[in-house]
Amino acid sequence: MGALIGIDLDRAADLLIQGKLVAIPTETVYGLAANGLNTEAAAGIFAAKNRPTFDPLILHVGSIAQAKSLCLDWPEAAEKLASRFWPGPLTMVLPKASHIPDLVTSDHPTVAIRMPNNAMTLSLLQRLPFPLAAPSANPFGYVSPTNAQHVADQLGDHIDYILDGGSCSIGIESTIVSIDTQNRVTVLRLGGLDLETLAEAIGYPLEESLSMHSNPKAPGQLDQHYSPGCAMIPFLNFNPDAENKSVTNTTGFLWFSQADKKEAMNSTSLINSKHYVLSKDGDDREAAMNLFGALRQFDKDGCDSVYFTWAPEKGLGRAINDRLKRASAKTNLH
Ligand code: TXA
Ligand code: MG
Repeated sequence: MGALIGIDLDRAADLLIQGKLVAIPTETVYGLAANGLNTEAAAGIFAAKNRPTFDPLILHVGSIAQAKSLCLDWPEAAEKLASRFWPGPLTMVLPKASHIPDLVTSDHPTVAIRMPNNAMTLSLLQRLPFPLAAPSANPFGYVSPTNAQHVADQLGDHIDYILDGGSCSIGIESTIVSIDTQNRVTVLRLGGLDLETLAEAIGYPLEESLSMHSNPKAPGQLDQHYSPGCAMIPFLNFNPDAENKSVTNTTGFLWFSQADKKEAMNSTSLINSKHYVLSKDGDDREAAMNLFGALRQFDKDGCDSVYFTWAPEKGLGRAINDRLKRASAKTNLH
């Protein structure tokens, strides 16, 4: 038995063929992978993550031909989006082929499919005779991992191997769309492919079903998700007069940009607390890449509450805000 973390593709492939679990790097977040056509292997994923079986898994593929073999219908819009954005941070929900285990799709008649953009994982997928079912490699409800160590920290005891592909270049999960037989495209989850680029590629309007609330069509889109251990509170609710006194070295501040931080620091004295700036210049891509690592860092630092500023609601800023909203949902309940 070698090290838990490594770059041995043969070992990863052998383990997956045996029905075992291997964490894989992707450009979005790390996935917890198993043979997506094998019910027992997929059951191992739900067990390791403590994930309820009503939350379906994404099948990862190494080619468009493989994707087509997993669905009953491949509408024109699917062809258009796959050829434009794959490999990349887009997942498509399509009518499922009958040989996909019901456990993988949580008994839904549809299957979610994506081709990840990571050289190591693509080459792994291309040598395997099956697609890889892979949710994000974190315990259910927690923040997704964006490097191999994040995976080892939390799921190390449950996984046979972690393929190390470095830090994720996008850092936020894929955008999920469903496509119907009339080529209508509905966004089910905001993610690493921004809506502006998606809409421009389709050439006609996206369907309006996206909500910032739990979406019944995307069963995993629970309000409370992506939660670090600390309470997450919008900085808008921060009242300097009342709360400055309670700011300690276990209070965190997550700033979207350096300008956000500067503005707030002028009016309050938050010197002794923990600060993290997602992107110095307020770049949405850089901020997305740093978001989950920042949340983990606050947790590691033992922060009990973290005040955060919202991203501008455009580009990947929408997906960042979606994750912040869910991360703070737990807090809002109390
Ligand atoms: O970027 C990503 O998508 C990462 C990497 C590893 O690929 N994966 C990921 O998986 O975020 P996960 O399981 O954490 O989130 C996938 C979500 C599910 O929670 C569910 O909402 C949605 O995909 N989903 C999966 N199958 C679906 C289906 N048939 N219909 C609707 N939504 C589905
Ligand atoms: Mg997840």
